[in-house]
Parts: sequence; C-alpha cells; structure tokens
Amino acid sequence: MTIRKFATLGASIILGTLLQVNVSCAATVTISCSATGHDLAMCTQGAQAWAKQTGNEVKVVSMPSSGQLALYQQLLSAGSSDIDILQIDVVWPGILAQDLLDLTPYAGKNTVGDFPVYVKNDTIGGHLVAMPWFADAGVMYYRKDLLDKYGVKVPDTWEELTADAKKIQDAERAAGHTKMWGFVWQGRNYEGLTCDALEWVQSFNGGAIVDASGKVTINNPGAISALTMAHGWVGTISPEGVLNYSEEEARGVFQSGDAVFMRNWPYAWSLANSDDSPIKGKVGIAVLPKGGQAGRHAAVLGGWQLAVSKYSKHPDVAASLVMYLTSPAEQKRRAIEGGYASTLVDLYKDKGVRDAIGPFADSLYDNLVNAVARPSAVTRTRYNQVSTEFSGAAYAVLSGSTDAATSVKDLDSKLNGLRHGGKW
Ligand code: GLC
Repeated sequence: MTIRKFATLGASIILGTLLQVNVSCAATVTISCSATGHDLAMCTQGAQAWAKQTGNEVKVVSMPSSGQLALYQQLLSAGSSDIDILQIDVVWPGILAQDLLDLTPYAGKNTVGDFPVYVKNDTIGGHLVAMPWFADAGVMYYRKDLLDKYGVKVPDTWEELTADAKKIQDAERAAGHTKMWGFVWQGRNYEGLTCDALEWVQSFNGGAIVDASGKVTINNPGAISALTMAHGWVGTISPEGVLNYSEEEARGVFQSGDAVFMRNWPYAWSLANSDDSPIKGKVGIAVLPKGGQAGRHAAVLGGWQLAVSKYSKHPDVAASLVMYLTSPAEQKRRAIEGGYASTLVDLYKDKGVRDAIGPFADSLYDNLVNAVARPSAVTRTRYNQVSTEFSGAAYAVLSGSTDAATSVKDLDSKLNGLRHGGKW
C-alpha cells in the first residue's frame, strides 16, 4: 500500500468513525419539567441550549403540579420509553430508584460541589439514581413597605406573625384595600401541605412525623399546638380558599399585592420582583417564624433532581443532557435569571450570582443548611403513603372536620399500621 493510499484509508476510517459517532449520538430525548412559576421556561431554555451544542434534539413535556409521581410510576411500571429524563422531587428517589439508571459512570466528579445532603439523598443502594438540580427550602416573604408603614418588625414567632398579619390586614382593609389578607400559604391536601405543616410542627419542636430510627413521633403536644394554630388562621388572616392553594395560588395573591406575608419557595422571589410585578422592590424575605419563644425556625428541605429512566432508548444522550443541566454554568444561569437556589455550594459565593440576587443568596444558603428533611429516607418506598396520611390529617384540622389532638392520634395509628413488623 502506498503512503498516499494508506493515508486515504486512515482518513476514511477516521471520518467513518466520526460519522458513526455522530449518527449514534444524535438522538431525540424527552425531558419532563415541572410547570410551577417559570420552571418550564427555564428548563426549556437550558435543554435547547444543550441541543444546539450537541446536535441532538430535545422534547420538553410539562408535568402537572400534582399527580406527577403517580404518572411517573405508571409510565415506569409499564417500561415506557416515552420520557427519557425525569424531573423528580427530593422525596422520590427511594420510591423510583428501581426504574432509574445509575448515573455514577456519567457523573464522575460532578457531584463533588453539591450540598452533601442532596447527593446522599439521591444515592440509593450505592447507585446515584438522580443528579441534584435545584435546591429548595421554605421561606417567608413579606411586604417590606407595609411592615414599614405600620412600624412592624419582621415577626420572629408565629404568634407575632398572626398578630402582625391581622393588624396590617385590618388597617389596609379599613383604608379601602378590601381584598387584603394577612398570610397566604399552601393549604391544599397534597405534598405542599406536608411541607408547610411539617414546618409548623417542627417550629413547635414537634419532630418530623417519623424519626430517624423509624419511630412514628407525630402524636405530641408540639404537633397539636402547631396544627391548632394553623386552623386558627383559616378565615381570619388567611382566606378560606387557602385550603385549595398550592404554591402558585399563594403567589398569585401575594404578587397581586393582596397579602402581607407568604410562605413559599425561592422561585417566587424573581417573579415577585419581575418588571410586571405590582410588588416589585417591595418584598422582603426571612426565615419562617418559631413556634413560641421555646420553638425553632424551621424550613423544610425541598429540591428537584434529574434522573434517567432505565427504559430510555438513548441513555447516554439522556445522561449528557442531565449533566449539562446540572452543571455549574447552567445552575448559575438559573440562579441569576430565575432566582433558583443552586445545589452547588460555591455558587452562593459567586460574584455573578451575588450581583444578581444579592442578600437573597445568603438567606437561601442559611435556610438550606438548616432545613429539615421530610422522612423519605427512613420510610423509603412508603414515603408517599406517609405523606398522604400526614397532609390528610393536617387538612382535616385546617378545614375544621376534626381537632388536632384527635387527628394526630389517628394519624399515629395509621402510620404505625403502614409499617410491617415494625419496619418501613
Ligand atoms: C417544591 C419542593 C418540593 C416539594 C414541593 C411541594 O417544589 O422543591 O420538594 O415537594 O414544593 O409542593
């Protein structure tokens, strides 16, 4: 073979390999993204940037804010390849692990900079079944301008919040703002209520429903005080309709200027301060109040992960999108443009992020490191049942169909009934 022929052959082999690589890599993958606030828009932008960079195609499907877990379980149990990448809640890895790809080989060192709590949470039986994508912790939003107007300090306890909310609500109504409410939050019977109610219970030192050893702890005086207090808000400082509020309904009322305080997640910050927001620049953020002087500030740990279905026809491509979306650059973009809390510790010190969201970054960080986890790790595959029972019990108290003492007593026996031989 002449040198020339050899070179030509070599080139065609290289070209062939490249083409092959290209052909086998270019694929269409589908990602499911949540539709809360600007979740869908932010997810779509990131996914499309990856598609442009890699030559693959991506389809984005939006997920309903409730019923998402059931939908995933249905798809996965049928072995469906319809969704390659799933946006999953921090409380789901244990429930879905068996149908998710182990991302360890794709992640390499990518999880080194993440808050360890998320990496631990997403590692089930030694497999990294999801990559941390964005962090969440419950926060208290308040109207700075209204607190100033009425000479009210940011409340430190729920008792103070209740009194302040009532005072400002009544004064604003008397001044003609008849739609004003004191406090909006998530009272619908769903996972969001589990988060809110757990924060109240924790703030009264009432534990986390089930403790780390697996013992059901909910039947206690702190939990009773917490739920009784929240029941007192409905129809007084919170509209009756709060019993049907998820995050977005609460944000709708607060952002329209019709509430003094709101419990929500970090995503609401940049929306409340967007150009078309009536309350732009008038919002403050604080830790959630304590349950009395002996109580504690408690925020529930939330957050979303990206996982790849075991039934994906393009696992490598799907994993590449997951690594792109969870990368420092993309998390930074989401923090700056969307106010999302990153799962990467260093981004809280990043100049670009700090210039964009300033002191908000500090509040987020403090809230996150102190956040309380729901008992998903210990109750594993039964977490969803535990949560459904808990939110149902809280809802029954809020709506007045039972009192708190009876409700937590019943809940205690129901939860114990979910254990098998004392084990979860
Ligand atoms: C937020 C949290 C998530 C929680 C949900 C409840 O999205 O990140 O963990 O389960 O709210 O509605």
